[in-house]
Amino acid sequence: MTSDVLDAAGPQAAHIADLWWLTIWVCVMVFVAVMVVLGWALWRTPRSDDATPPDVAPAAAGERNLRWGVGIGITVSSLLLTGLLVASVLTDRALARMPVDDALHISVSAHQYWWEMIYDDPRPDHVFTTANELYIPVGRPVIVTLQADDVIHSFWIPNLHGKKDLIPGRVATVRLRADRPGEYQGRCAEYCGLQHAFMAFDVVAVSAERFAAWADAQRRPAGDPGEAAALRGRELFLSGSCMLCHAIHGTTANARKAPDLTHVASRAHLAAGRIDNSPQTLAAWIADPQRIKPGVNMPDHLLAGEDLAALVAYLGTLK
Ligand code: CUA
Repeated sequence: MTSDVLDAAGPQAAHIADLWWLTIWVCVMVFVAVMVVLGWALWRTPRSDDATPPDVAPAAAGERNLRWGVGIGITVSSLLLTGLLVASVLTDRALARMPVDDALHISVSAHQYWWEMIYDDPRPDHVFTTANELYIPVGRPVIVTLQADDVIHSFWIPNLHGKKDLIPGRVATVRLRADRPGEYQGRCAEYCGLQHAFMAFDVVAVSAERFAAWADAQRRPAGDPGEAAALRGRELFLSGSCMLCHAIHGTTANARKAPDLTHVASRAHLAAGRIDNSPQTLAAWIADPQRIKPGVNMPDHLLAGEDLAALVAYLGTLK
């Protein structure tokens, strides 16, 4: 997984990275120029032991030089800032011009503190929902529709695009495209509460074939648990408080207050990137979510021993 925010994996991030490099080089040049002029000014200032009489009335020549210096400074600053403004507007235009033929449409909703992804499709039976994981096909444009239902969040995949705020009551869109396969990090980039720093999602860019296979698997309802412990786990899930918030397709659980768990075992992380996904971490998370993610909306379930193991066994079958 790449962690270099300037490693552009798509055209939008490349435009933004170009603007960043232009800005940083202009700033570096201005800084160096200011330091050189400052050094020169300090060097030519007469030392106190030169016994120079204090300047009470600056000479006319000095006054003229000062005016020239200030004039040049203002002109150069204005030109540089105007140049950066033009570059910024051109970048914005370039981002908006991206072709979106045959785009994949994904609706993303931000919640405290997790992400819901709904993959749209002209065929209603092909629409599916997942959480904290954004699979996208390489080379195909993706239009992400963004919404929030509690507070302001911000959707950010540094390697693919800039930040986009999600303001409750408003719909925003982001167009992006990954040009090479890879795993990238998605982040919430707007302080949204206690667990803002742990509101992440995995972005996985794969070939069209692998994406189609993944989407097919995600569309399938949850299979039969099989062994006895997992069956008992399903019973606990459907008779306890889990189903008040979560959905598992193929069962009677269909709430949407919390992540859809139909294929939870196929995900790399749990709790929006907070922990890896393994039977041990899953058990710890169910037993005491507030210890792992204080302030999260998932309540303690007071499950332990065999019941907890059965529930973990069941969730582990949801591949
Ligand atoms: Cu959501 Cu920060």
